[in-house]
Amino acid sequence: MLSIPSGKVVFSGIQPTGIPHLGNYLGAARQWVDIQKSNQCIYCLVDMHALTVWQDPQTLRQQTLEQAAILIAAGIDTNKHILFNQSAVTAHARLAWIFNCVARIGWMNRMTQFKDKAGKNREAHSAGLYVYPNLMAADILAYKANCVPVGEDQRQHIELTNDIAQKFNHDYQIDFFPKVDEFIPKTSAKIMNLRDGTKKMSKSDPSAQGRIEMLDTDDEIASKIKRAKSDSEPLPSEIEGLQNRPEATNLITIYAAVTDKSIESVLQQYGGQGFSTFKTALADVLVEIIRPIREETKKLVADPGHLKKVLKQGAEKASAIAEPIVSEAEYIVGFLK
Ligand code: AMP
Ligand code: TRP
Repeated sequence: MLSIPSGKVVFSGIQPTGIPHLGNYLGAARQWVDIQKSNQCIYCLVDMHALTVWQDPQTLRQQTLEQAAILIAAGIDTNKHILFNQSAVTAHARLAWIFNCVARIGWMNRMTQFKDKAGKNREAHSAGLYVYPNLMAADILAYKANCVPVGEDQRQHIELTNDIAQKFNHDYQIDFFPKVDEFIPKTSAKIMNLRDGTKKMSKSDPSAQGRIEMLDTDDEIASKIKRAKSDSEPLPSEIEGLQNRPEATNLITIYAAVTDKSIESVLQQYGGQGFSTFKTALADVLVEIIRPIREETKKLVADPGHLKKVLKQGAEKASAIAEPIVSEAEYIVGFLK
């Protein structure tokens, strides 16, 4: 279904906070697994980005391992590709500092994610949250990555990355950093909250009833789907019939994404029926896709020593790529070498 690029250096990052949910899996992890078939991939657990808002230290450590386990269980191949935690490769912080000095305050002020996250009380947030996008630019450019699979919400940060690269190249009169292409798969579904089809399924929602977590038991998955909000009409046979029916749209979207079918074909199959048969079928396919990932994750998490070793090896491989690039950038700006 997806048209996946090939032969690129792919970089992407995910914050190791909260328990990943179905939206993270369908919107990020599953794509990462698909892309690795035809590209060199570098996947990063961005613990430094996580720190931009308060994190309990012990929980952050635990969730970094858990997130790594889920990605490996979902199919990231750590032998052929690179998986590591950001803070283990110092090149990120060093390049981020240079970028803090390249990017303009006016650029930061335009970042909508900062405005959303900081809300009205901007003064009380960490300075790290404000310069978060510069660190993200450093993540990508430390590897001269040219393909960055992300969700729609990250598009502005990729544009900023290109602005920083261009200004760096211009200021120092050197063609050093490449242009970065975001890769936002058109077919990538935005998964909505099961209790409110107008809200994104999100880790930060206080109630877990609106999201399927990747570590939910079979029973929890079935019960969340059974109790998911729907409406009183039967399912339509045509896509137009989903208009103004956010909850029906979401459940159909999830079914289509999980089974790799088109929405049209799902509607052909279930059109005219009530929600109860469809919900049972949806719960069944979800249980089938999540169970093996959950079981494998549990095994991996039971051996933190092994996971730490995998991440350490990933960090060494990442460092081998980033170190010469960032070292050269440091020389270009005038640091002694
Ligand atoms: P976050 O949970 O915001 O740290 O996002 C991690 C990754 O999952 C990003 O690539 C997001 O675009 C993706 N993602 C998060 N929530 C959803 C959702 N509800 N539907 C689809 N993708 C999502
Ligand atoms: N900011 C991204 C998010 O919130 C995570 C991220 C950090 C990232 N560094 C990155 C994504 C570099 C892609 C490339 O989802």
